[in-house]
Amino acid sequence: MSDTDNKNSVTVTDNRTGHSWDMPILEGTCGPNVIDVRKLYSESGCFTYDPGFTSTGSCDSSITYIDGDKGILRHRGYSIEDLASKSDYMETCYLLLNGELPTKAESDEFKNQITYHTMLHEQMLNFYRGFRRDSHPMSIMVGVVGALSAFYHDSTDIRDPQQRLIASHRLIAKMPTIAAYAYKYSIGQPFVYPKNDLSYAENFLHMTFSVPCEEYKASPALVRAMDRIFILHADHEQNASTSTVRIAGSSGANPFACIAAGIASLWGPAHGGANEAVLNMLQQIGHKDNIPKFIERAKDKNDPFRLMGFGHRVYKNYDPRASVMRESCHEVLEELGINDPLLELAMELEKVAVSDPYFAEKKLFPNVDFYSGIILRAMNFPTSMFTVLFALARTVGWVAQWKEMIEDPGHKISRPRQLYLGSDARDFIPVDKR
Ligand code: CMC
Repeated sequence: MSDTDNKNSVTVTDNRTGHSWDMPILEGTCGPNVIDVRKLYSESGCFTYDPGFTSTGSCDSSITYIDGDKGILRHRGYSIEDLASKSDYMETCYLLLNGELPTKAESDEFKNQITYHTMLHEQMLNFYRGFRRDSHPMSIMVGVVGALSAFYHDSTDIRDPQQRLIASHRLIAKMPTIAAYAYKYSIGQPFVYPKNDLSYAENFLHMTFSVPCEEYKASPALVRAMDRIFILHADHEQNASTSTVRIAGSSGANPFACIAAGIASLWGPAHGGANEAVLNMLQQIGHKDNIPKFIERAKDKNDPFRLMGFGHRVYKNYDPRASVMRESCHEVLEELGINDPLLELAMELEKVAVSDPYFAEKKLFPNVDFYSGIILRAMNFPTSMFTVLFALARTVGWVAQWKEMIEDPGHKISRPRQLYLGSDARDFIPVDKR
């Protein structure tokens, strides 16, 4: 980010008083410039107003770049297409956390560090047993991740770089175990301990789908698909859950509590919960003959129904993750020999929606969640686990963004202001006079 000379600024004039204020324009490496309004309030007495943050840059960051018009997503400069086809999730995690791709030795050391932390404190299993069996696995995940701070006191001091590092590694390493245990608990099967000679993705499949009484070997195609799904969800700059993690972290809260806050934010259907909602929607549509009816509902202002898996705050073009996911979806279904009518339905729905003027005008295209549910279903995950997988994969992004914020010496507690529209001061009326 470079500061600028006086010419590179905007001037705001208050037409009531004729006062003007100059605000510098800051330039990033790429992407839109930002108007630096930090001094606006102290100089003018006015706040900026931007509910939903549609025009607000909340921080500077060097981790992820998105060009929503061109459909570009890059982590530390590397395209998501390259990472999805040439890298693996562990390497992508290292890149997000450290800024560079690892050498072979760094990669081995990182994998070793993550592998070393995959087990959960045995006492935590009692924590699971306190949940109802029919709990949504996301509710278990929010609770268990928040509870990590009660079990790992030696990694909650955010001022200590070593503790920050261990907390980051613990979160990435334990998330698959936490997610798999949430699933096992919900179906009444025993928890399966991690096996540290397996890759990250394979270990997760092993803990999720194996049972102690039988041999389990995940097919290489499934392991590859799982790993790729993790890469595609690893980070996405300042989305709702990441901003939640940063805001929670800005107060100095411990990292486990901050990530639990991020998981809670991700859960909603407008964010990570959309993958679950897409599958429910496809099942509700049921047959391609019903597509026009649902398209009409999505376009009707008086109907709250939206086409789930469509549209994005940033992408006004194809979500590049959706294109990779679509390709992966075909590959997985082919390898598994599955002929899923929902995939046919999804492709038909996509075709009808993208050629409809409403979706074209509003630049609504399929997002990452549109196809991910179909792959996850083919892999035998129940719908309620879809958002859990998103949270698992996104943990590294949350951790990298949290770490970047904590390590910025200029970071401040996040404290937005408001436009107050409530009552002005009024006299208190005793209850017998109301
Ligand atoms: N179906 C029908 N209309 C839509 C849709 C949709 N999926 N998405 C947006 N619109 C319309 C919306 O009604 C609005 O119309 P108008 O301007 O006439 O009022 C216009 O498009 C702009 O929508 P918005 O809600 O103001 O846009 P936003 O940037 O606030 O919302 C979004 C983005 C992702 C929440 C929204 O597109 C949506 O609800 N999509 C469905 C849920 C979904 O798939 N979410 C996953 C996002 S990708 C994964 C992730 O990163 O979490």
